[in-house]
Amino acid sequence: MENIIINGGRELHGSVKLQGSKNSILPILAASAATGGVSVLHNCPKLSDVEAAIAILRHIGCKVQRKGHTVIVDSSDVNGFEIPDSLMREMRSSIVFLGALLARFGKAKVSAPGGCEIGLRPIDLHLCALRRMGTSISEEGGMLECKCPDGLFGRHVTLNFPSVGATENIMLAAMNAKGETVITNAAREPEIVDLAEYLNKCGMNITGAGQSVIRISGGKISGAEHRIIPDRIVASTFMAAVACAGGRINVKDVEKEHLAPVIPVFENAGCIFDFNGKEMTVESFGRPRRVRLLRTMPYPGFPTDSQALFMAVAAKASGTSIISEKIFENRFRHVPELIKMGADIRVEDCCVAVVEGVKKLHGARVTACDLRGGSALAVAATGAEGQTVIENIHHIDRGCEAFEETLSALGADIKRVALLQE
Ligand code: UD1
Repeated sequence: MENIIINGGRELHGSVKLQGSKNSILPILAASAATGGVSVLHNCPKLSDVEAAIAILRHIGCKVQRKGHTVIVDSSDVNGFEIPDSLMREMRSSIVFLGALLARFGKAKVSAPGGCEIGLRPIDLHLCALRRMGTSISEEGGMLECKCPDGLFGRHVTLNFPSVGATENIMLAAMNAKGETVITNAAREPEIVDLAEYLNKCGMNITGAGQSVIRISGGKISGAEHRIIPDRIVASTFMAAVACAGGRINVKDVEKEHLAPVIPVFENAGCIFDFNGKEMTVESFGRPRRVRLLRTMPYPGFPTDSQALFMAVAAKASGTSIISEKIFENRFRHVPELIKMGADIRVEDCCVAVVEGVKKLHGARVTACDLRGGSALAVAATGAEGQTVIENIHHIDRGCEAFEETLSALGADIKRVALLQE
């Protein structure tokens, strides 16, 4: 067990390189299992969620090597189509392996993921689409048993919500489907585009990724070399930290286009941006300004993953900000923790937070309840007076590589301490 301790009140200055995207590498690792070849994946972040995906790959028979930020997956001898509950439970998004296993074996047995910290997270859209593509699915003792005895078939699938995971699972299942698969109301996130680019390098023919209608047809599939896109949510973590603590930092390896939904919001709060190719400079001095209304939406709207991070900024802004979260039903668990740090926030109807900005936040002992909520507490702590102790930091390690080293390199007073086991 470890905690993070932050002594707030230091401006951030300096330069950091942005890590590769967690939400991109996970479905690409799953896809690599279905190629039957060797994939060389660059810019893979070192995260516990990535290690959980690698453990699943090894369990089903892939040979996986990591060399720094490059992961090499050889799936030529894959032989397992069953993922035990213990591995599935490590990471909820491992449900994306379902589509990959069906493409590779025409069958799969995985445990049904339950809800998680941020909400119920059903997978009805995934299962409905896979059934339409020819899969019979039964559930027994918490395990999903899936078979497509006649193979998978390309179909027209309309999602009633542009679910990221469902779009990915359909794309993966389509790797081995007969005929064209068309997804209408597909998720448009940059991570979907990255998955399509990797799959096209593997021999598939996917058009429309990044738009609402994606057309997929298979081909002769092999492994491929690919570089994972930069992590747009970690980029917004840096923006929020600068807005809270003040300062001027340079972030290398950013994709400006992916940040288009968040930049205007941080600009309204007082951040000043300068982009030069793949480099972003962000500065903020003085108290942030309130943002009247912020709504989380599917891409290209403001990401739900950046909501907690922005709330840390709004907590010390001048004026009242309203934050509406309708993507996940349980994504305000950081609110009581921010309140311990002096924030004035009330939640109405479970999905609207009224944030009355206070002049100063102060240090407190707080608990990370989920990944982005935990990072938001650290961001708030960099701009708070006194010492903050953050518990349950394994949530942060799921998605932020070398979190305290990076913030420390920017001048924050932050360290990780191991707790003695009783
Ligand atoms: C992915 C991201 C997560 C991000 C989210 C929304 C990964 C590993 N995770 O999660 O960080 O916050 O996109 O941008 O990429 N839903 C259903 N039925 C379904 C599927 C989803 O009702 O079958 C609902 C969910 O409960 C949620 C909403 O749709 O309320 C969005 O979920 P989805 O887009 O699927 O998110 P994930 O893929 O789980």
